[in-house]
Amino acid sequence: MADLDDLREGSNFGLGETAGEQSFHVKGAANLSWGMKDRLSRIFNPKTGKTVMLAFDHGFIMGPASGLERIDLTILPLIEYADCLMCTRGILQTMIPPTYNKPICLRSDAGTSILTELNNNVIIDIEDAVRMNVSAMAVMLAIGDEKYEAKTIANLYKAVDKGTRYGIPVMGVTAVGKDMARDARYFGLASRICAENGANIVKTYYCDGFEKVVAATPVPVVIAGGKKLPEKEALELCYKAINDGAAGVDMGRNVFQSESPAAMIQAVNGVVHDKLTPQQGLELFQDLK
Ligand code: R5P
Repeated sequence: MADLDDLREGSNFGLGETAGEQSFHVKGAANLSWGMKDRLSRIFNPKTGKTVMLAFDHGFIMGPASGLERIDLTILPLIEYADCLMCTRGILQTMIPPTYNKPICLRSDAGTSILTELNNNVIIDIEDAVRMNVSAMAVMLAIGDEKYEAKTIANLYKAVDKGTRYGIPVMGVTAVGKDMARDARYFGLASRICAENGANIVKTYYCDGFEKVVAATPVPVVIAGGKKLPEKEALELCYKAINDGAAGVDMGRNVFQSESPAAMIQAVNGVVHDKLTPQQGLELFQDLK
C-alpha cells in the first residue's frame, strides 16, 4: 500500500486536500455546495471559465418575437453550439427535446407583457425548476423603477433562498428602464445589487467602463446582446466584453435574427472561448454562412 509520501508525490494537492477541492473556475463560487458547483460547471466551461448562453425567453413578454415564431426551425439547430439555453418553462416543455441534455437557465419570473406595464413580476414555483432539472434560474431586477424596484429585488432574494435549498444557482437579470443611463455607474449599481442579494450570475449590458462593473461584482457577469446589430458589430461587442472581464454572453436577437444564426453562434463561440478577434470571428461567420 502506498504511504503518504508516495501519495503526495506526483500529486498537485497538499495533505488534507483532495482533487475535489481544487480552486474553482467560477467567480465567487468557491464556498458553494457541490450541487451548485456542478450546475455552474455545466454552464461555465471549466476549460475556459466562459459561457455562451442562448437566450430565447423573449416571448414571455413579447409573444412570437421576430425570429422566435418557429422555435423548432430557428432555435433547435443552434442548440449544439450553445453552452446553456435560457428560456421559459412553456417553451422548454413543448419545444426542447430533453434528449438534448443541455443545461437550462430557466426564466423564473413572470408578470406583465409589452402591452401593459413592465416589471410587475413575481417568481414562479421553484418546484418547476427542480422538476425540469435546470442548471440555473433567471430573475429580473428593475433597479431604479420607483414602482417595482423593491418587488423585483424581493423576487431575486426569495429565488436565491429557494435555489440554495436545492443547489440551484440564480442569475440576476438587470432590466434597464427607459429613463436609466446605460453607463458603468448604473450597470455597476444594478449588478452589485444582484450579487449582494445572492445572485450567483449577473446578466447586464456592455458599456464604456465595463471593467469597473466586472471588478465591483463578486460573481460572473455575462452580457445580453440587445437589439440586432450587423454581425461585425455584434462580434466586436462580444470581444470587448470578454476583454473587459465578462464571463460570457447571454445572447438572443443577435444570434437568432442573424441572416445565418448557426454561423453566428459559432462565431460568437469562437470569440468567447477561443479568443478570436472580431475580424477572425467575422471571417468564421462568412465561411460558415
Ligand atoms: C430579456 O428580458 C431577456 O432576458 C433576453 O434574454 C435578454 O435581453 C438577452 O437577449 P438579447 O441578446 O436579445 O438582448
